[in-house]
Amino acid sequence: MSEDIKKGLDGVVVDYTAVSKVNPLTNSLLYRGYPVQELAGTQPFEAVAYLLWNGELPNEAELAEFRATERQHRALAPEVKQVIDLMPTGAHPMDEVRTAVSAIGAKDFADGGSVLDATGTPAQNLERSARLFAALPAIVAYGQRRRRGEDLIEPRDDLDYAANFLWMTFGEEADPVVVDAFNRSMILYAEHSFNASTFTARVVTSTLSDLYSAVTAAIGALKGPLHGGANEAVLHVFHEIGSPDQVSAWLDTALAEKRKIMGFGHRVYKRGDSRVPTMQAALETLAEHYDRPEVLDLYRTLEAEFVGRKGIYPNLDYPSGPAYDLMGFDVLTFTPLFVAARITGWTAHILEQAAANALIRPLAAYNGPDERHIDGYVANAAELAAADRAEEAV
Ligand code: COA
Repeated sequence: MSEDIKKGLDGVVVDYTAVSKVNPLTNSLLYRGYPVQELAGTQPFEAVAYLLWNGELPNEAELAEFRATERQHRALAPEVKQVIDLMPTGAHPMDEVRTAVSAIGAKDFADGGSVLDATGTPAQNLERSARLFAALPAIVAYGQRRRRGEDLIEPRDDLDYAANFLWMTFGEEADPVVVDAFNRSMILYAEHSFNASTFTARVVTSTLSDLYSAVTAAIGALKGPLHGGANEAVLHVFHEIGSPDQVSAWLDTALAEKRKIMGFGHRVYKRGDSRVPTMQAALETLAEHYDRPEVLDLYRTLEAEFVGRKGIYPNLDYPSGPAYDLMGFDVLTFTPLFVAARITGWTAHILEQAAANALIRPLAAYNGPDERHIDGYVANAAELAAADRAEEAV
């Protein structure tokens, strides 16, 4: 076959983006020009969401106004709760989140009477983005509580995004150390250029479909274990290994079996992921706060041993998995947490795609059977005329 196939779109540049920049040479990640570690160390997640959508960090008044809007839309709508409650508690948590977002979209269009104009103006889509951002913590928190047989907890107006998220999940006010670590993780997961789920959202947007459809499709893409989900897998690895003195023997077997060690390696970053030091510092603070030094022992031993043997470095999922575990999140909740963070990046890309749209429709090289025909088929006059026109064009 003569065509130059780019399997997996590997190395293909499909469009411009001003939302974020990944630089594999320096292992750096910039959101709207700012290094992600500087944002994570200084900003509340609300300010980073605002930055991703609007291109600039908010000033004090803008942040206050945005926070007021976010607080207004935190509560789980009764109709959405009903939809979630219809699902068995054994349902996959990502199916639950995806369905809840779909229900919010259906309700939004029904309430706004805008069923026939679902694409939305830039202002409408910005508002929809902010409302989804505000609504997701309640969906994710309720999901974990439901699986544990616990009741819904109403949001608190006096708490910022991260503190309120933890409140709705655990029903108690989190220590500032925990709130800070959680806030950092949300910022670090918020955006990552044309990754698979973001690209999915852009493809759906490019058909002039609506924002909710683009987000539900993105959630479906993130659900796959090659994309979201590695932070969960890190926890399974930790449980499997058990203790630092088992690391060496466990690695011998895992590498002999050609297993991929979860939380290590990256398609783009080959010499370390710039998000790791920030999240690792948060993990270290959490281990001290909860007095769980053994978690760090295992973390450091596995890292040293694996990097020493293979020269492959940890990615963000390596510190964030054990950090979420220490905070008390169930492993099943980890990927929905990723959704709550990445909603900001997805919607920033949806807004960007809609503002300079071109239908995303690649070509394929056909490698199926040669042309063949159904016995006895008689073409009608219009089909014969079309075939003649096609022949003339060749
Ligand atoms: N454990 C063991 N070996 C690994 C590895 C890992 N986590 N990541 C890469 N390698 C090895 C591969 O086996 C391959 O070895 P080979 O050349 O002897 O065949 C080599 O490194 C290159 O791997 P490749 O799969 O081409 O790297 P990639 O850049 O395409 O893959 C990932 C990137 C993320 C898919 C891969 O590193 C991985 O599966 N990591 C674990 C899952 C994970 O943490 N995902 C979250 C990503 S943010």
